[in-house]
Amino acid sequence: MKYLSNVAKNYPASVIREMFEIARKYDDVVNLTVGEPNFDTPKHVIEEAKKALDNGYTHYNPNAGLLELREAVASFYGKYNQGYKAENVMITVGGMEAIFLSMMATVNPGDEVIIPDPCFANYSGQVMMIGAKPVSVPLYEKNDFKIQAADIEKVITSKTKSILLNSPSNPLGSVLEEKDIIEIAEVIKKYDLIVYSDEVYDRIMYDGKTCPSMAQLPDMRDKTMIINSLSKSFAMTGWRLGYIVADENIIANLPKLQEGIVSCVPTFIQKAAVSAMTGSQSVVGDMLDHYKRRRDILIDGINEIPGFSCLKSPGSFYAFVNIKSFGKTSMEFAKELIEGARVVTVPGSAFGKMGEGYLRIVFAVSDEELYEALNRIGAYVEENYIQNENGKMERKEG
Ligand SMILES: Cc1ncc(COP(=O)(O)O)c(C=O)c1O
Repeated sequence: MKYLSNVAKNYPASVIREMFEIARKYDDVVNLTVGEPNFDTPKHVIEEAKKALDNGYTHYNPNAGLLELREAVASFYGKYNQGYKAENVMITVGGMEAIFLSMMATVNPGDEVIIPDPCFANYSGQVMMIGAKPVSVPLYEKNDFKIQAADIEKVITSKTKSILLNSPSNPLGSVLEEKDIIEIAEVIKKYDLIVYSDEVYDRIMYDGKTCPSMAQLPDMRDKTMIINSLSKSFAMTGWRLGYIVADENIIANLPKLQEGIVSCVPTFIQKAAVSAMTGSQSVVGDMLDHYKRRRDILIDGINEIPGFSCLKSPGSFYAFVNIKSFGKTSMEFAKELIEGARVVTVPGSAFGKMGEGYLRIVFAVSDEELYEALNRIGAYVEENYIQNENGKMERKEG
């Protein structure tokens, strides 16, 4: 199509959608692909949105967002001890726009932006949209899928401007520890880069794990742009409410960019977001209890099936399952599981080259769906494969 731009032609196609298309042929699949909570948005948030509509919060509002929401976000980050105020906060359309706007404000065409591999599939597309070049850093299972400072340093060039970090991670479930953050910060400072710290899963962690942020380090505050949203923590994916927390001098330049993109985030949604941020936080903990149980069901269960192995995810609601012993590409094997077991997963290759040999499985679904998926996969593997003495899975004859 001659009218299309390079970005339109090259934006990575959604593999999840492709898996959906394959799955549509069957009416009895268990779908473990969708990265969103299977809970409803808390009632008090919904009520607040209705009230806001009735009270006339239906007009434009400041590009940067409603002051009371910016204050509520700043107050949440009081825990980082960096003196964040409303001037450090920009309200966006989901975490997605927060990532885009952060890069738009700090990256020029031709610059290089470092991204993890595997990572959230939109990162590379978003870097391309601003005319910059995504440069991948490989993440390894032997390092618990945590990005390593030394590996980051290897890909830095004179064109490197910034780096996207994501902890807890989609699709890996990994969480960076304080030691990792400190080591990475040394590299960031050495090359004077900017960090986009994607913390959208910051409240979804298990076994007492905490997730230190780059922004908490005293000398990293002004080089770190925190990306977050209410999507995952409050089961509000459809509300499209996110934000950036960063140095006030960077934030001061974002409203004019927002003006040119969406003008502002819907006003009544911001009113509802205030009630999510300032109201009872127990809803977050309640969901977490369910995710933890489901993580254990899925990961313990999948590790019992011959040929599969999976690290226990300390955060997010994803399991990144090693299927290398089957000797197939992750796309081939994901298709095989749909056709043979009627279970839909996402091939790891959808998240980057390093995802080859893995499947991403979402456990933000019901216990019943997880048990059903495990039974189906287990039965399929038992019927069709045999494990040889080297642990490799071979297809049964006939
Ligand atoms: C790592 C990561 N960042 C950002 C987002 C965007 O979230 P939203 O735009 O719904 O806030 C997602 C959504 O799946 C994600 O997994």
